[in-house]
Amino acid sequence: MRELSLHLLDIAENSISAGASRIVISVREDLAADELWLEVTDNGKGMSEEMVANVLDPFVTTRTTRKVGLGIPLLKQAAEACGGFLKVESELGKGTKITAKFQHSHIDRMPLGNLEDTMITLLLGTPNVNWVFKYQYNDQIFEFDDAEFKEALGDLPLSDFRVIEFLSNTIVDGIKNTKNIATEKGAVYANH
Ligand SMILES: Nc1ncnc2c1ncn2[C@@H]1O[C@H](COP(=O)(O)OP(=O)(O)OP(=O)(O)O)[C@@H](O)[C@H]1O
Ligand SMILES: [Mg+2]
Repeated sequence: MRELSLHLLDIAENSISAGASRIVISVREDLAADELWLEVTDNGKGMSEEMVANVLDPFVTTRTTRKVGLGIPLLKQAAEACGGFLKVESELGKGTKITAKFQHSHIDRMPLGNLEDTMITLLLGTPNVNWVFKYQYNDQIFEFDDAEFKEALGDLPLSDFRVIEFLSNTIVDGIKNTKNIATEKGAVYANH
């Protein structure tokens, strides 16, 4: 995959399959620590410890015991190739949290890519899920919770092209402003 946003889409699709009603996608860029963090947290059916181990290492188990999936292993490979790691925390009946960390400046680190398209695909595809998108750049945070958004729409369908455009702009602007404010602050600190 060429974009981290596509990995996020893939990981979030697992959460949908797990029957989650609330899914939080979080992207955090920490320039001072040279780290990029991705997190997908859901309240779906969760996994047993054994399942978690199998998911992380799909080729150690035989194909008869489980279907070999590649969504999680691919993100794990990508993170490890960039001086990072992937962590799966899960509890049966409670939910799952997938965390991937990358060295921000690593030469092989994929760009974040089109986060707004990923969010729109997920939101429109599963309107019954409560989607939360968080983006943090240094100490500046942008948070989008689709519950308020859906409420404000009233009888306007989510699939209306103006709604989609508004949604896309909200996310694009949210990310851009967060970055700008954080960068300006950084510049002010540097001047003193
Ligand atoms: N959030 C989750 N909640 C519960 N189970 C999960 C979750 N994420 C992954 N799993 C379990 O781990 C398996 C492996 O996930 P993975 O994304 O690696 O492959 P997959 O979804 O099976 O196939 P694909 O290659 O299409 O992604 C899933 O089939 C599912 O059983
Ligand atoms: Mg998958």
